[in-house]
Amino acid sequence: MVPVAVVGAGYVGLVTAACLSELGHRVTCIEVDETKVIALGAGDLPIHEPGLRELVWKNARDGHLQFTGDYERTRYAESVFIAVPTPSGDDGSADLSYVLQAMDSLVPHVQPGTIIVIKSTVPVGTGDGIARLQSVLNARIEVVSNPEFLRQGTAVHDFLHPDRVVIGAESAEAVERVARIYASLEAPIIAVDRRSAELAKYTANALLATRISFMNEISHIAAAVNADIDDVARIVGMDRRIGPAFLRSGLGWGGSCFPKDVLALSSAASSHGCYTPILQAVYEVNQLQGKHAAELLLEAISGIDDPIVAILGLAFKPNTDDVRGSPALGIAQQLVEEGIIVRAHDPFALVNAGLVLPDVEYREDAYSALDGADAVLLATEWEEYYDLDWILVRESMRGKTVVDGRNALNGVLLNELGFLYRSFGRAAQTNGNGSAPHAGTIDASTLGGTMQTNGNGAAPYEAAFGSPPGVSEAVAE
Ligand code: UDX
Repeated sequence: MVPVAVVGAGYVGLVTAACLSELGHRVTCIEVDETKVIALGAGDLPIHEPGLRELVWKNARDGHLQFTGDYERTRYAESVFIAVPTPSGDDGSADLSYVLQAMDSLVPHVQPGTIIVIKSTVPVGTGDGIARLQSVLNARIEVVSNPEFLRQGTAVHDFLHPDRVVIGAESAEAVERVARIYASLEAPIIAVDRRSAELAKYTANALLATRISFMNEISHIAAAVNADIDDVARIVGMDRRIGPAFLRSGLGWGGSCFPKDVLALSSAASSHGCYTPILQAVYEVNQLQGKHAAELLLEAISGIDDPIVAILGLAFKPNTDDVRGSPALGIAQQLVEEGIIVRAHDPFALVNAGLVLPDVEYREDAYSALDGADAVLLATEWEEYYDLDWILVRESMRGKTVVDGRNALNGVLLNELGFLYRSFGRAAQTNGNGSAPHAGTIDASTLGGTMQTNGNGAAPYEAAFGSPPGVSEAVAE
């Protein structure tokens, strides 16, 4: 048991505090928002995150987890985790004011030798900068970078079953002490310098965002040539060098991390004199996805008096009530500004969406949002939308366009029911289950023919079709 403190009871702080207490440590979670502290003390959580409430209740009841606004309590901690927000500043750079405020508040209280563990996503060099502060040197505090890789919706699982625990530190003793906190997890500990840990965090998020933007770009090509993006993603994802995750096209990425991290990395790069055309394109392509969805909806309602658009899903992804950076909100706002009535449903995010976008008509029930609509956009692939009774929906909608912003619905069925199904790069014949009706995985050994493989699982093109198109001409030139 290590006595630790976690500064910040936001999404990362709360998950960190709850999971560290679950690992057997005595955790004090410090939060400056007094209302939040009172609510948390009463077991009321400010966010919807599967499994978190149970962990908080259990560990608070057992006395392993406490919430307070009093920084003085950090004096009992051997390590203090900083998990405060680092939002985008006006120029896209990460705003470090919350991190610096937290440092100012805790430094007067902590004991010499305390380790400050920075969990917040901070630009490369922030840990070094904090370690060089005169107040930190005087207090003889160690500074360690320990980035989080938590996905909303599965954050508790991600914390307790990480792919790796990254500890960026400048002394072996600091690595050893932070590693001890995570000792009961089955995960490799990757000890590196602070700057590499900080850069790895940004790189991971930027690379995931890049995969999605890249596939979104390909999805437009797929649409233009009538290929199927789901099949393309499945095929490239089966390449072990590529892997299947984060290849799904649609409205693109949102949330509290990808948008700000891509911008912050690009901004930090430029302040170091580095040119980042890829990062800029990744961001741009993502914005185009929302615009494209809005265009499909506008096309569907053109010429209709007092058009109504229904939006299913407002959270930036399923299993969270978070609407930060949600593509659905940007699209809803654009439609509202064009005088269109927007009716929206989300199982968990209605309250949060209402705070940001008051001019949307929010409905507690998906069918009620769809009633009388001229077109519908599926913006978040909540499980309950897979089970909608589309025959009922067809009777109640005024129009027939379904824009599937997550390539998640059964397009063939919807077309058969008389809807006009619009997707992001799925072929017209798609069956909506991620593969065209004729496709699937065929075991070559069952074919009994002479299909040859080249050792990578693919038949040589020539064996089946002769020379690939264009090859003979190219050779001839
Ligand atoms: C992300 C990182 O995954 C996590 O490691 C980090 O620490 C915090 O940021 P999160 O923001 O919770 O987590 O969401 P994630 O599951 O990564 O999805 C991000 C966005 O990408 C969502 O809007 C999602 O809908 C979108 N996405 C994801 C796609 O559009 N296609 C995909 O194939 C996968």
